[in-house]
Amino acid sequence: MNIFVPLAYFHEGIVNGYDKDTAPIFMPNTIGGYMPGPRDYPGNKTYPSSQKTIIAALNHGYVVISAGLRGRTLTAEGENIGKAPAFLVDMKAAIRYIRHNQDLIPGDTNKIITNGTSAGGATSAAIGTSGDDAYFEPFLKNLGAATESDKIFAASVYCPIHNLENADAAYEWEFSGINTWQRKIFVKDGAPGQPPVFEDATGTFTPEEMEMSAELKQEFITYLNSLHLTVDQTELTLDNDGQGSFLNYVKYFIKQSAQKALDEGKAVSKDSGVKVENEVVTDLDWSKYLHFITRMKSVPAFDDLEMKNPEPNLFGDGTIDSKHFTTFSQEHSKVTSQLADEKTVKAVNPLTYIGKAKTAQYWRIRHGASDRDTSFAIPVILATTLKNAGYQVDFAMPWNTPHSGDYDLRDLFSWIDKICAK
Ligand code: DHB
Repeated sequence: MNIFVPLAYFHEGIVNGYDKDTAPIFMPNTIGGYMPGPRDYPGNKTYPSSQKTIIAALNHGYVVISAGLRGRTLTAEGENIGKAPAFLVDMKAAIRYIRHNQDLIPGDTNKIITNGTSAGGATSAAIGTSGDDAYFEPFLKNLGAATESDKIFAASVYCPIHNLENADAAYEWEFSGINTWQRKIFVKDGAPGQPPVFEDATGTFTPEEMEMSAELKQEFITYLNSLHLTVDQTELTLDNDGQGSFLNYVKYFIKQSAQKALDEGKAVSKDSGVKVENEVVTDLDWSKYLHFITRMKSVPAFDDLEMKNPEPNLFGDGTIDSKHFTTFSQEHSKVTSQLADEKTVKAVNPLTYIGKAKTAQYWRIRHGASDRDTSFAIPVILATTLKNAGYQVDFAMPWNTPHSGDYDLRDLFSWIDKICAK
């Protein structure tokens, strides 16, 4: 774990209205692809790193603490030691350590804010929802973690790849009918400190894949309707074709995003399916929009039938590298496979803890409007579930923004300053 403190705090100084006792503690992580997320530092030139974020946060007056977290490929003495839920256990151990040493470490432990992107966004979200949940106790005890609360104040979450057990179905709800995919495909993990190796790939669905897509789409409709999400006391639902108030709600965020782009003088492509009259967004052709952003992943999008994706690899155990985590993929598998323990799968899903654990009061969730790594339904469900449970959620889908994070640090820090001033 690395701890960084603005220099002024060593001289009783003040930065941006904060001092050494009142400064928020900002905790970015470097998890991506559920790979190990090593502790980070300003000037870090190795991959993965969000060192620019650390520098910006320090300049803004935050104490920054970067914990190294285990990831799915980590081994020791021939055993896998980084499978789920290790990344969350490590983050909680770090938070407990900070609380245990709060008289020694500058910053306000009542103002701990996590931040991450993609799998790191999922990490930030799951830490945000699951404060002090009993599930983690044995893992933390085993690790020798301090006996302290691991509850946090706020979570900043960019394009979280989460709710994995429903992500395949959500992907087909969105993209079913688009039978070609195009993406950078993972070739191999990078050497230590280097990014993974990718190459361009495209594919067209077989009839069997089209059938799976249709089946998964139906699965999502059932799932979504089971959630009983509401907006302004109106329930969000989907009919058998996948149309309905939930889809309209997703479209609302995309239209809002296009409108904001127009208001800022940015271009909104005619090919996007966004209808504009006199600088006002009046409609969104959903099918056209999806063809515009294109489909990235094959089917099933996450729990793939050959278990080559990051996600089955996350759910391996000490000796088995990868496991399916949906009954659908276990039943359709093309390789010898086992089904992961359902408890472990649920344990890394942030939604599991809402209404059950000590969930952070404040949330800022961003998911780019051209992100195709997971369905738009996934962040919308997270944001709405949190709102429905009474938490404060700032959710938006920035226009023309792909799968990425930390692109609006000025706005993120304004949000942090505002919630800390309450
Ligand atoms: C990430 C991206 C993915 O598409 C995925 O399936 C898992 C993780 C990531 O960028 O962290």
